[in-house]
Amino acid sequence: MASVARPWWQRAVLYQVYVRSFADSDGDGVGDLRGIVDRLDYLEWLGVDALWLSPVTISPDKDWGYDVADYTDVQPAFGGLPALDELVAAAGRRDIRVIVDIVPNHTSDRHPWFEESRAARDSPRRDWYVWADPKPDGSPPNNWRSAFGGGPAWTLDERTGQYYMHNFLPEQPDLNWWNDDVRAAFDHILRFWLQRGIAGFRIDVAHGIVKDGELRDNPDPAVSTYNANREDVHDVLRRWRRVVDEYQPDRVLLGETWVMELERLARFYGSGDDELHLAFNFPFTFCDLDAQKLRAIVEASEAALPERAWPVWMLSNHDIVRFPTRMAKGDERRARAALFLLTTLRGTPVLYYGDELGMPQGDVPREQHHDMAGRDGARTPLPWNGGWRDPWLPLSADVAPVAAQRDDQGSLLNFARSLIAQRRASPDLVDGAYESLPSPDGVWAFRRGDHTTVAVNLSDDAAELGDGLRLAPWQGVVQRM
Ligand code: GLC
Repeated sequence: MASVARPWWQRAVLYQVYVRSFADSDGDGVGDLRGIVDRLDYLEWLGVDALWLSPVTISPDKDWGYDVADYTDVQPAFGGLPALDELVAAAGRRDIRVIVDIVPNHTSDRHPWFEESRAARDSPRRDWYVWADPKPDGSPPNNWRSAFGGGPAWTLDERTGQYYMHNFLPEQPDLNWWNDDVRAAFDHILRFWLQRGIAGFRIDVAHGIVKDGELRDNPDPAVSTYNANREDVHDVLRRWRRVVDEYQPDRVLLGETWVMELERLARFYGSGDDELHLAFNFPFTFCDLDAQKLRAIVEASEAALPERAWPVWMLSNHDIVRFPTRMAKGDERRARAALFLLTTLRGTPVLYYGDELGMPQGDVPREQHHDMAGRDGARTPLPWNGGWRDPWLPLSADVAPVAAQRDDQGSLLNFARSLIAQRRASPDLVDGAYESLPSPDGVWAFRRGDHTTVAVNLSDDAAELGDGLRLAPWQGVVQRM
């Protein structure tokens, strides 16, 4: 296949920065945007092309930034808007782009929109959120459940006698995406960031923002048939794509598409170039490190995606157990094999900060939990080697810090860096089509493009691949033909 000029987000390696835990420039124990500026050397050395920042907008932090009280300003604790502008400029000088997280499903209950909405039944903003009358017996309008805690997705607002809907915390009321003014308000928010030079958006809960207009009961109360996953969400995604496509250089929409059926995942790409550019593949993320199972998911994903669509792969994020613990079960060889795959498949790899160190899930004692859903172990500070005074979450003791790993040629960090470099140096790995190849049990082999074959041994036994090629347990190899 002739090499075409790929857009940057297809060639890129992305890196998710959980801002509170990446680097602290002012010694208050909380990471901040100038902390990232100070570490751009490191990110450039590692070889990443774009950063996805977890939410930096104003938030009372009931859900650590995912409850937004102002979409067009930056938390003072992170350095405010000037620090973000500084980061975008400083990163840009190194050809590193900055993607921000946007949370359109819900706001904080402290957002002025919600304060206005809840003030009175006839408030002009009443319809910006999902309000409904109690049932005759006073109970919630239907059987929808909240993703946090599993209780009702409804809270009674005593003052006006109606319930408001929240798929997450009561402090995160869901916006009503049937309201045209809500849609227009978000166009405006997207433009605000696009004009500031932001390279794109990671869209929180991208599959879930539109609710059933009739608020019907879920047939199975444990499955969000009507309070998320509505087809109508595609109208909104097409609308955002049109907005984003107006800007040059080109920007990216990366969706948190938390669906487990690949056919449904594929729909978020629209016809291949009119919805999301990239839709996270959770079936891959949650798969065991098993050659047959992983190959099946990748083959099915390749088959399901529309022709012009581009996959995206990740192993860890701020909501789930870090991959060295979950997928690799604490075995460094397995962690290396997983990273090898991440960087050799067709599609954009996304690293979560610390993945490059093989950083395991942090062991955070219950009494030090900040997150109401207990996700703190995935969010502990990046160990630079010192650099954290009294961090907001405990540093993980189970991983060698950045400084030590940088100096050690055999470290996982240097391995991760060499994988990124290998990818960048190979047009086939960046660009080439994916094709499965026959391989012995426990081994996954595939072709990339015209000239490259990849094989990885995901087993505890050495594997013979013919032509004298022997793979040690958990070893991967890229060969040019
Ligand atoms: C997304 C975020 C998660 C957050 C939730 C509600 O799943 O990744 O951190 O708690 O949305 O906003």
